[in-house]
Amino acid sequence: MSERRSGSAAFDRPPGLTYNPPVMKWIYIEDIAAWAGQSVEIRGWVYNKRSSGKVRFLIIRDGTGILQATHFSERKDDPLFAKLDGLTQESSVIVRGLIREDKRAPGGFELVLEDIDVLQVARDYPITPKEHSTPFLMSNRHLWLRSQKQHAVLEVRAEVIRAIRGFFDSRKFRLMDTPILTPSACEGTTTLFETQYFDQKAYLSQSGQLYNEATAMAFGKVYCFGPTFRAERSKTRKHLIEFWMVEPEVAFAELEDIIELGTDLVVDIVGRVLERRRKELEILERDPAPLEKIGKPFPRLTYEQAVPELKKRGSSMQPGEDLGAPEESLLSEMFDLPVCVTHFPASIKAFYMQPDPARPDLVLGVDFLASEGYGEIIGGGQRIHDPALLEEKLREHNLPRDPYAWYLDLRKFGTVPHSGFGLGVERMVSWMCGIRHIRETIPFPRLLYRIYP
Ligand code: 4AD
Ligand code: MG
Repeated sequence: MSERRSGSAAFDRPPGLTYNPPVMKWIYIEDIAAWAGQSVEIRGWVYNKRSSGKVRFLIIRDGTGILQATHFSERKDDPLFAKLDGLTQESSVIVRGLIREDKRAPGGFELVLEDIDVLQVARDYPITPKEHSTPFLMSNRHLWLRSQKQHAVLEVRAEVIRAIRGFFDSRKFRLMDTPILTPSACEGTTTLFETQYFDQKAYLSQSGQLYNEATAMAFGKVYCFGPTFRAERSKTRKHLIEFWMVEPEVAFAELEDIIELGTDLVVDIVGRVLERRRKELEILERDPAPLEKIGKPFPRLTYEQAVPELKKRGSSMQPGEDLGAPEESLLSEMFDLPVCVTHFPASIKAFYMQPDPARPDLVLGVDFLASEGYGEIIGGGQRIHDPALLEEKLREHNLPRDPYAWYLDLRKFGTVPHSGFGLGVERMVSWMCGIRHIRETIPFPRLLYRIYP
């Protein structure tokens, strides 16, 4: 974009303009401190406004922050007054003026208005400062994103994603994108989204894991990071139909290695959010104290140790059953840190999980449960590397052999123990932000009964 006042002339500058308008730098509100004492241009939307006698206050947001612009005049017929008084919430504007440090202004700076271009006066913006119902807000999600709290959540999300990428890139993991259209299931056939792939059936990916196992044999340590899909009929606060998952996979790694990797990742993300997103946590009224306690190592429980603890705490779960949301909450209440649950019954886990050599009825899997009851954030473990055993497990799970022929090849040509996991981005964000419902942690959530907007 040029530094000249391009564009703006098209809206309200008189066509016969003869003087050269001053060149002002278009800057973003988040960078304002560097511009104190200088005149700049800000392009944004009206968030709010106030007036008292000879002063007008215009609160402007530009996507990176909120800034107060002020205009003072002794003249009742001041032409800027007329423009400012006609503005409504979410009207689009370009303002110019001097940046002045002012401790009383929100953010510590204000803009002393010299000039304003009005691009559009918005009429009847539906989201007003009054309370709205959640279904109403969800139907207006495309606009709701502009609200301060939603904005803060999505800033935290972007920080979580930056932290994840930084973590794996700095450890020299190779990013390997995995396909979204796949011929077979990874996490069981009950939550598969089926679609037509010309004259055959295909499924939306539930996890990039199986392909990660192939790229790990080619690159040693890899990760994929993309959207995943689960046709889950359950309507809970922790499930999305479409969610984002980061999945590392490491050749030669065993269960313990991957637990350490997951622990380091979680500690890193939490530290990064605390370091860089304090302001957002404050806007969200998220108490940072529980997050400040997060450090290594995390407590551990085997499934068989967890069962009696759950019974003691009133759970009705029967031994051999999978942990449900209430069980996850009960276990996380036992600790201030995330807890790693390991050694699950093979019968409740996916076909690819490596059995414990000492107890073949258990698998070398791990679930990380977030503290404060935010549920499972990581699921993973060690994979079967023995070809005969893998064939047997496919049969046990009634999975057809043909679509998995390539996956079996990985065990035929230089098979090695290997492990990996998946971390759900939205679960992590809801924990970081202290938000109980996962629907606010992604710009456009796909839920059981909602695919609009
Ligand atoms: O435990 P899951 O199902 O594990 C896998 O998909 C493995 N194949 C990953 C791997 O080993 N590479 O899912 C992993 C994580 C969960 O711990 C949770 O954080 C998140 O993905 N997750 C969901 N998040 C939101 N909505 C859903 N419906 C989710 N299902 C799983
Ligand atoms: Mg899981």
